Amino acid sequence: MPISTPSLVVLISGSGSNLQAIINAVKNKQIHARLCAVISNRADSFGLQRAKNAGIKTFIIDHRNYHSRENFDSALIERIDECQPDLVILAGFMRILTTRFIQHYADRLLNIHPSLLPKYKGLNTHKRALENAETKHGASIHLVSNELDSGAIVLQAEIPINSSDTQEILAARVLKQEHVIYPLAIALIIDGELTISNNALTYNQKPLTHPLLWQSGLLREQ
Ligand code: GRF
Repeated sequence: MPISTPSLVVLISGSGSNLQAIINAVKNKQIHARLCAVISNRADSFGLQRAKNAGIKTFIIDHRNYHSRENFDSALIERIDECQPDLVILAGFMRILTTRFIQHYADRLLNIHPSLLPKYKGLNTHKRALENAETKHGASIHLVSNELDSGAIVLQAEIPINSSDTQEILAARVLKQEHVIYPLAIALIIDGELTISNNALTYNQKPLTHPLLWQSGLLREQ
């Protein structure tokens, strides 16, 4: 274990079920870090209540109070940097970030996206996967780069699509997987099994050329 406990900051906009999974993983010591702050751009995010219940400091930085993305991101950076975080975790944070923000947190900025990237970047991923008659779907943890949902992929959870799946059923099954792989990816990084340098990933000291895969309850290299 490192001498000082690593610090995490989580950014949310909504329900915060991924945040809850991370809170639980910190509590049960799967993740050897402390949650320094949870920041939401929306005052009505249920995730804020989850954070408060867990005794984590919360902040609302409402994007509507800023003239520009640059000003909003500066306010975020100021608040986040008070925690000197080892990782900044986007968990359903529904704002596009500026290049300055992304570069400021290079190699320590993670996002979760509900699709098997590079497929289905952007919104309505479950609907599009069903419309295209995909046989599998899932979620991805990735580094954040300047292009939306396009940074190096760390870890993916893959599930089969069943013929009876509706958008809602599929979304719920993917979300359940998200709650497994986000804490897992964070734990691997905090424990140094997965390292990030210059946007490149190393797993157990070897370059990670394909995302790690969480499938049927097992972590696999591809
Ligand atoms: C998740 O589906 C995540 O993949 C996406 O936004 C959703 C957030 O859900 N980026 P929650 O707020 O964590 O419940």
